[in-house]
Amino acid sequence: MSNPLFSLLKRMAPPAPPSLSDLKFPSVDSVLNEVDKALRTLAAKPVANRPNPSAHTHEGQLADGEKADVIGMMRVNHVGEICAQALYQGQALASADPAKKALFMHAAEEEADHLAWTQERLDELGGRPSLLNPIWYAGAFALGYVAGQLGDKVSLGFMAETERQVEQHLNSHLQRLPSQDLASRAIVEQMKMDEIEHGKTAQAEGATALPLPVKMAMTGMSKVMTTLAHRI
Ligand SMILES: [Fe+2]
Ligand SMILES: [Fe+2]
Repeated sequence: MSNPLFSLLKRMAPPAPPSLSDLKFPSVDSVLNEVDKALRTLAAKPVANRPNPSAHTHEGQLADGEKADVIGMMRVNHVGEICAQALYQGQALASADPAKKALFMHAAEEEADHLAWTQERLDELGGRPSLLNPIWYAGAFALGYVAGQLGDKVSLGFMAETERQVEQHLNSHLQRLPSQDLASRAIVEQMKMDEIEHGKTAQAEGATALPLPVKMAMTGMSKVMTTLAHRI
């Protein structure tokens, strides 16, 4: 006969963390496919599916100090989009549900527009992307893959929180960008609208709210990334 106290304690105990044998490892083909995507994201010129939102804006004159600051901001945003590609690829690879895989891949396609637009703006300003992009990509991919291993609802929760934090970050850039820099502002505005939609999609698909310490850790990590990417 089972002991009722033992049964109660067993029910109250937190679930055991997944063991190594629970983890799903991708096939060699999938790994090679991911390496190919990573190299394309990092080395090939990104091509947008939608027109650049800055296409019909007038180029405002920027003072040297302002220009350097705008280049820093657009480099940070470009890094954010490198990370978005990597995160969504990692999440898509880890998901076992074809519909969720498609959802993450669709989000990655829209983020590819952002990647192209921020790259184009950096080129126009004579700026360069972050030298640490391969490191950002690898870190974000690993994060996306781990989130995906925790199940689609957690993975969607991670997506919703990421998009919420990116929206806040873009709002801060809209306050900092010079008012005459209509081109950068148009790009950041459209990105913000898209990120809001990505967040809503994640919520509608059943995102789990992440615990506060996880949200705080994500904020801390993005602070490190934005600070470094502004300069390097
Ligand atoms: Fe984006
Ligand atoms: Fe997004």
